[in-house]
Amino acid sequence: MSDQKNYGMSTKALHCGWKCDPTTGASALPIYATSAYQFKSTEQATKLFNLEEGGYLYSRLSNPTVCAFEEGLNAMEGGVGCLATSSGQAAFNHLICALCSSGDNLVVSRQVYGGTLTLLQNVFSRFGISTKLVDGNHPCQFEAAIDDNTRGIITETIGNPVMNVAPLEALAKIANRTGVPLIVDNTFASPTLCRPIEWGANVIVHSTTKYISGNGNLLGGAVIDGGNFDWSKFSNKFPTLAKPDPAYHGITFTEHFGKSALYAKLHAAIIRDLGGCPSAFDGYLLHVSLATLTLRMEKHSKNALEVAKFLESHPAVEWVSYPGLDSHPQAYLAKEYLKDGCGGMMAFSVKGGVEAGRKLLDNLELIGHMANLGDSRTLIIHPASTTHSQLSTEQRMAAGIDDGLLRLSVGIEDIKDILEDLSTGLDAATKK
Ligand SMILES: Cc1ncc(COP(=O)(O)O)c(C=O)c1O
Repeated sequence: MSDQKNYGMSTKALHCGWKCDPTTGASALPIYATSAYQFKSTEQATKLFNLEEGGYLYSRLSNPTVCAFEEGLNAMEGGVGCLATSSGQAAFNHLICALCSSGDNLVVSRQVYGGTLTLLQNVFSRFGISTKLVDGNHPCQFEAAIDDNTRGIITETIGNPVMNVAPLEALAKIANRTGVPLIVDNTFASPTLCRPIEWGANVIVHSTTKYISGNGNLLGGAVIDGGNFDWSKFSNKFPTLAKPDPAYHGITFTEHFGKSALYAKLHAAIIRDLGGCPSAFDGYLLHVSLATLTLRMEKHSKNALEVAKFLESHPAVEWVSYPGLDSHPQAYLAKEYLKDGCGGMMAFSVKGGVEAGRKLLDNLELIGHMANLGDSRTLIIHPASTTHSQLSTEQRMAAGIDDGLLRLSVGIEDIKDILEDLSTGLDAATKK
């Protein structure tokens, strides 16, 4: 099916990327558990290796099961191509390796996921790629930090875990004016609720481990090329895309692949070299999950709004941050960018700080206490002592993650059961 058609999100999720098996007619996507593919001739083998012909040659670069998922997700995000990776961390890792070299820098919202900050500040810094952290709610700070060596602006649609909503259009204007791509991690919203490319973003990153899988049964990531950044206009900034590639007999990706230069580079070169590819089995699971993403996000959003209202009115709760509440500082941005719902994630704090928070977590029965989110089951975690514990106290505080903050990922169970469990936990938290 043509992914260019103007289908709605649910139709794209169900139909894009896979129709039926061309040889057997099987309607379900096969798991192509193969490392390599039989060449038709020596001539074809040479052409495939020289990028003169498209096709499969080795599953580290591409695999038909994984490709079906990539095409579906790409259609939903509205890009020109998607690279699936073995985790969300691998997605960032591969993207940065595609765009940056030693001496370059990235301007990054300090409210992004702690693991992204650790990767940038502890790993890429050792290879001469530096990070300039700014407050993700203030576009002028991004603009002030951009210099001649900046190769990207990074934000999350909804920040993990502080739940700030990114000023996407303002950031896109700055990115456009200064000649750097706007890179948006869309994990918390998923393409069902927000499609940042429509608001001017150039590259989308996902941890598909989360809502896109929805079952907590795999690790995965993805990079989607918006096809709307003219790399050739800035060939000195992006030589990996706009100058001859010695590892591919001197082809220039922007000349050879036009708007899809980044996508082609990621698939043909970066994942070939770094190797963070997903298995065919994970590609299959992701393809199956994608089909129900729209439905699930609807229920996550509906349940989360009820939970947020419940927490906001509960006497044991200090504060709640959910973009669907009028009290949220960027509720006006949520009304613009998250018209179909704000997803299942929220942050809150219990009166009595860390100790009260601990009691809440220890007294939950239904809600899982674990380091994941976006699962169909409701999950909770204390970021300061877990997901963000690698950051210094100053970095955490600057990102808005205070000691008592709890991150709640509201699932799609019956709402009464989620509220009952929270209620029991809150009672225990406030008991003297
Ligand atoms: C917003 C966001 N981006 C990226 C990642 C990294 O993804 P993964 O755990 O799949 O490597 C996470 C993980 O929690 C995340 O929350």
